[in-house]
Amino acid sequence: MDYALVKHMHMGMAYLSITFFIFRSILSVTESGLLQNKLIKILPHIIDTFLLLFAGHLMMTIQQYPFADAWLTAKLVALIAYVIVGTIAIKRGKTTVIRLWASIIAVAIFAYILGVAKTHDVMSWLAIA
Ligand code: HEM
Repeated sequence: MDYALVKHMHMGMAYLSITFFIFRSILSVTESGLLQNKLIKILPHIIDTFLLLFAGHLMMTIQQYPFADAWLTAKLVALIAYVIVGTIAIKRGKTTVIRLWASIIAVAIFAYILGVAKTHDVMSWLAIA
């Protein structure tokens, strides 16, 4: 499959992921019952699965992998952190303050990943300066 197309689909999943995450974190902080909706619960898993499938295709094409190439190790570890902090924001955080802070941290982690993706550098956006 065309590399540019797969890269754009990977990027599309990433932007869908953060848009949907922000939506769900608003529902979480405002304690909306809509958060229990089945579709709202499973959609993030579908998005993340496709994000990773496309990432796999990209890695095999450019022959660069986590634990071999530092920027991809950083992306993978940060993605895991984004998912874990995200679950605190959406369901595990006991108070609204904890859920709000977890939401902000998850968005910051996402911004870090974006910088790593653009620069291919663990220093993320700081590598541009
Ligand atoms: C939330 C998580 C992620 C976000 C926001 C994200 C974002 C992006 C973006 C924006 C690009 C395009 C960069 C550009 O050329 O402008 C990209 C490319 C890429 N991503 Fe991700 N990504 C994420 C997770 C991952 C993971 C977990 C991996 C693999 C471990 C990965 C592997 C790649 C690869 C191999 C490319 C192609 C790089 C290139 O052609 O220069 N991504 N990603």
